[in-house]
Amino acid sequence: MWPTAELHVHIEGTLEVPLLLRLAERNGIDLPTTDADRLRSRCSFSRLQDFLDVYYEHLDVLRTEQDFCELMLAYLARATESGVRRAEIFFDPQSHTARGVPMAVVIGGLSDGIARGREAYGIDGALILCFLRHLGGAAALATLEEALPYRDAFIGVGLDSSEVGFPPSLFADAFQRAAAEGLRRVAHAGEEGGPDYVWEALDVLGAERIDHGIRALEDAELMAALRRRAVPVTVCPLSNRALRTAPHDLAEHPLPVMFDEGLVVSVHSDDPAYFGGYLDANMAALRDAGVVDDAVEGELAANAVASSFLGTEGKRALFAEIRAHAEAIGAPVPSRAVAG
Ligand code: HPA
Ligand code: ZN
Repeated sequence: MWPTAELHVHIEGTLEVPLLLRLAERNGIDLPTTDADRLRSRCSFSRLQDFLDVYYEHLDVLRTEQDFCELMLAYLARATESGVRRAEIFFDPQSHTARGVPMAVVIGGLSDGIARGREAYGIDGALILCFLRHLGGAAALATLEEALPYRDAFIGVGLDSSEVGFPPSLFADAFQRAAAEGLRRVAHAGEEGGPDYVWEALDVLGAERIDHGIRALEDAELMAALRRRAVPVTVCPLSNRALRTAPHDLAEHPLPVMFDEGLVVSVHSDDPAYFGGYLDANMAALRDAGVVDDAVEGELAANAVASSFLGTEGKRALFAEIRAHAEAIGAPVPSRAVAG
C-alpha cells in the first residue's frame, strides 16, 4: 500500500453494520431490522438522496462520547490498512445536535478517538466540520458559532448533504466567518450539481479543495481554471458508482481524464460502509478497470499528500515514506514526491 492521505471521508459514513447493531442495542434504539444482511441490503441507491436517507437514519445510534470515540477509532484502525498516514475527516454536527446530542459530546468523542488512533496506529487525524446544505445558510452560521468554543479541535469547514437546489452561494456568510477564524475551507460541488456549483464554491466560498468535482469535465473553462489555480479535487470512484453519478464501468469514470488534463486529483472513500469499501477497495476497483497501475497509484497518493492541509514538514515526511515505498516495490518515484 502506498502511504497516503485520506481527504474525503465522512466519519458517519464509516458506521459498519456490526457497530451499528452494537450501538443500537447499547442505546436501546430500534432499527428498521436487526438482521445484518437486511441492513446491508439497504445499501442499494439510485441517487444521492436515497443514500442520505439511510445514512441519517443509521447515525441516530450515535449518542454518547464513547459512541463517537469508538466510531473514530474503528475507522482509523481500518484506514491504516489502506496505507493512510494522515486523515482529514468530515463530520456532520447538525445531524447530531438536531437530535439533542450536544456539540461537546460530538467533538469530544471524535477528538478522543483521534488521540487514541494516533497513539495506537501512528495515524495523524484531523477534523473538518461540514455544514448540511439542506438546512440552509443561517443554520450553518449558527452551527459554526456553536462549535467555535472547540475551535482547536477542527482544522476547517466543508459543505455536504443534498446538493441540487442548495448552491454554495447560500453559505457565503458561514464560510466568510470560518475564514476569519483561520479555518481551512473545502466544499462538495459538482457531484450531482453542475459546473456552476463548482464555480461558486471557488469564487464565492473561497474553497481550497473541491470534493467530488466530477461534473467539472462538462466545462472546459472550469477545467482550465482548476488546473491553473492548482485546486485539488478529491474523487471518490466507488461512491460515484454507488450513487450513479458516474458510469458503472470505472473504465469510463472521469478520473483518468482529469488526471491526464493535469488536475491535482486524488482518490478517496467518501462513505466506505455504504459504497463498497475503503481506499484500498477504491484502488483495487480502478486497477481492475485498467485505469490505474503502480505508477499512477503512486502519483495519486502523492497528490493526496500534496493536497492535504499538512504543513511543509508533515508533507516532507510523508513524501519520504512514499519514496521509500516506490523503491521497495520498484515503481517510479511520483513527481510530487521527488526529494526537495
Ligand atoms: N455527498 C454529499 N453529502 C454527503 C455525502 C456525499 O457523498 N456523504 C455524506 N454526506
Ligand atoms: Zn462526500
